[in-house]
Amino acid sequence: DWTSESFVETTVAELKQQLGTDHVIMALSGGVDSTVAAVLLHHAIGERLHCFFVDHGLLRKGEYQQVLDSYKNMGLNIKGVNAKELFFSRLAGISEPEQKRKIIGSSFIDVFDEASKEIQKDLPEGAEAKWLGQGTIYPDIIESISVKGPSATIKSHHNVGGLPDYMKLKVVEPLKTLFKDEVRRVGKTLEVDSTILGRHPFPGPGLAIRVLGDITEEKVRILQEADDIYIRNLKESGWYDKVWQAGTIFLPVQSVGVMGDERTYEHVVALRAVGSLDGMTADWIHLPYDLLAKISNEIINHVKGINRVVYDISSKPPATIEWE
Ligand code: XMP
Repeated sequence: DWTSESFVETTVAELKQQLGTDHVIMALSGGVDSTVAAVLLHHAIGERLHCFFVDHGLLRKGEYQQVLDSYKNMGLNIKGVNAKELFFSRLAGISEPEQKRKIIGSSFIDVFDEASKEIQKDLPEGAEAKWLGQGTIYPDIIESISVKGPSATIKSHHNVGGLPDYMKLKVVEPLKTLFKDEVRRVGKTLEVDSTILGRHPFPGPGLAIRVLGDITEEKVRILQEADDIYIRNLKESGWYDKVWQAGTIFLPVQSVGVMGDERTYEHVVALRAVGSLDGMTADWIHLPYDLLAKISNEIINHVKGINRVVYDISSKPPATIEWE
C-alpha cells in the first residue's frame, strides 16, 4: 500500500532514469503542488533543475518575497521574475472570467518563453533544457477533461496541457497520480517548508479571479489588505489549518454605509472558507460568529474603500469555490 516514503524513493529513481543528464525548466507558483514537484525533481537532478517564480501582481500581500525567500532556503535554483506591468496592462478592461484566464495563461507563456531563453543562454556548452516540470495533480486532470466534455464548461485550468508545440519541451509531471493530501504527505517526507506545505490552495490566475469584473491595481490592493486581515485572523485563531481553502472576494458592487455623520458609498468584500478533500466538492465552514465579527470590524475599520463584509454560505456543488 501507498506510503509517501516509497513514493519519493520510486519517483526520484524514475525521474533519474527518465531525465538522465537533461536540464529541466519549471515555473513555481508558491503553492504546495509546484513546490513539492520541484523538490522531487531537485532530489533527482539537483542544479539541472532551473526554476523561476513569476510575480504577476495578483498574489497575496507580501507573498512574492516570502515565497521566493523560502524557495532559496530550500536550496532550489530559482529566479524571481517581475512581470506585474505586463499582466495588469493586458488585463485592463477585461471582465469575463474565462477571458481573464486566457490572458493570464498566454501571458505566463510569454513570460515563460522569455525566462527560458535566458536560462538556455546560461547553460553549459552543448547543454539544452528539453523538459518542462509541472506540479499537475490528479484532480487537475479530471477537471480539465470535464472542461472538454460535451455537457460541461467548467473552468479552463491554464496550468494543464503544457506549452505550445513551438517550445518543443517535453512535460514531466511527477505528481499527476496524487491527490492533494498525498502531495502534502510527500512534501512532509521531503521536509518542504511547513509554511508552504500548510498553505491553502491558491488558483494560478490568483486574485484576478477574486476581483469580480474588471481588474485595476487599486482594487487588487484593497483586496490584498482585506485578505491579509482575514488570513491573519484565521491563523491567530487556529482556524487556518482547519479550513481547506479560504479567500476574500472583491465584489463589483458599491453599497451605502455610514461613518460618523457621513454617508459612504463603497465596496463590498465577501469572505469564503471551505472544507474539502480535493476541491471537487466543498462545504462552507461554520466559522464562529465572534471571529467573523472581529474580522469584519477590522476590515471595515482599516481598509479604506470597504464599508461592508459578507460571508459566503454556499457549498459546492452547485456553487464553485471561486466566484469566477
Ligand atoms: P472551483 O472554483 O472550480 O475551484 O470550485 C476548485 C479549485 O481549483 C482552484 N481553481 C483554479 N486553479 N487555475 C488554477 O490553477 C484556475 O483557473 C482555477 N480556478 C479555480 C480553486 O482555487 C480551488 O482550489
